[in-house]
Amino acid sequence: MKHIDVKELFANSKEYKDKSVTVCGWVRTARDSKSISFIELNDGTCLRNVQLIIDKENAKNISTAVVPVGTALKVTGNFVPSERNGFEIVVTDLEVLGECPADYPLQKKFHTLEYLRTIPHLRPRTRFFEAVFAVRNELSFAIHKYFHSHGYKYMHTPIITGSDCEGAGEMFRVTTQPWKTDCKTEGEYFAGDFFGAKAGLTVSGQLEGEIAAMGLGKIYTFGPTFRAEHSNTTRHAAEFWQIEPEVCFADLHDIIEIAEDFIKYIIKEVVENCPEELAFFNERSEKGLLDKLHSVINSDFVKLKYTDAVEILKKSGKEFKYPVEWGCDLQTEHERYLTEEYFKKPVFVTDYPADIKAFYMKQNPDGKTVAATDLLVPGIGEIIGCSEREADLGKLKGAMLKRNMPLESYTEYLDTRKFGSVPHSGFGLGFERILMYITGVQNIRDTLLYPRTVGSL
Ligand code: 4AD
Ligand code: MG
Repeated sequence: MKHIDVKELFANSKEYKDKSVTVCGWVRTARDSKSISFIELNDGTCLRNVQLIIDKENAKNISTAVVPVGTALKVTGNFVPSERNGFEIVVTDLEVLGECPADYPLQKKFHTLEYLRTIPHLRPRTRFFEAVFAVRNELSFAIHKYFHSHGYKYMHTPIITGSDCEGAGEMFRVTTQPWKTDCKTEGEYFAGDFFGAKAGLTVSGQLEGEIAAMGLGKIYTFGPTFRAEHSNTTRHAAEFWQIEPEVCFADLHDIIEIAEDFIKYIIKEVVENCPEELAFFNERSEKGLLDKLHSVINSDFVKLKYTDAVEILKKSGKEFKYPVEWGCDLQTEHERYLTEEYFKKPVFVTDYPADIKAFYMKQNPDGKTVAATDLLVPGIGEIIGCSEREADLGKLKGAMLKRNMPLESYTEYLDTRKFGSVPHSGFGLGFERILMYITGVQNIRDTLLYPRTVGSL
């Protein structure tokens, strides 16, 4: 179907000025006066609508002067300068591609996000979701661009896996086996299943990422991640996307530098390439969003030891729901105090107690903490989980045994430490979390086409 994208039309308006153009799209609004009809058409290629003018006198051949909101159209007309809209199309030919009956749920100009969550299949036809998905697209591209230009290899790690990387037991099970009651043990039950073993959806590509990095030097993954957490919050989804670089010959200090450089780069790319979308979010979801993003690009992130974070929290005089003691896991309220009230910028909290972190993290010489860091940002809390990995075979086995992990299930992973082990580090960035941070969108459900959360498929 020969036509021009509305984005292209506005981007190269000089070229199309006073020429006949054909565009396609959906009617966003329609107004009728005695002699003229006005239609705002959107084709999804950019936030802007193109205004169509139908002069009833001169367009007698056009049968449908005003068409209902939601109707799909193909129109041809002259692309002419206009005082109000910059440019508009004076229509000479109009074809209805798809009619839209009156029960179309997007009749109003403004709908609440709560309402739109009830019609996920139609949300992409709204300005808000057009902006969300435009930024989502630009952000993924920026992520690939960063790693590609820095010599990382993009790895596709398995989605179906037998290992619960984070060790939190939050895996969704994958099975083809019907309901069975005659098995005596769990082992017997899974032996009859598709893989002959218990299988699930990955909670992280890290362990496979480490295996790839221990030959390819530096890699990253960017894929779907699944967690059967019962956290019904605005920041948790059961299916989200995670970016996980893994870098050999890098210690915690090095990987923090990489993470900071990477975050600033991807924000800068979105700021440069999505000005209209960010201006929209600056109005609609977070006042001061643009200032925030510029200041993040230009400032140094705080690096703070967990032990010092605990001191700051204890001295804060705040009544936290979960009291703070050395050894406790930081809760969202603590993370938000540090990053929103105390420092007012992104904070890397480093050197957490070993007992609250995963088995694979490098044990510090103090015998109590690990070389790990979480990156916390205002408004959200944790967006990155990061660590130097334990490269010493004996120490790694010790940490696994302490957590009652079956070493025999990890022989391949342990081989990376047995054969030519090297210092290496990596992190995991929650894609929807950074998207929320960049757009000011408050609920993770509004960053995904079809959000999967506990109790809702
Ligand atoms: O901190 P996490 O659990 O770290 C890992 O999975 C490591 N294996 C990463 C690594 O070192 N390669 O998760 C990483 C990030 C979190 O900081 C958060 O941004 C995001 O993933 N995340 C979620 N995002 C949305 N919904 C959830 N349920 C999430 N759980 C974690
Ligand atoms: Mg974490």
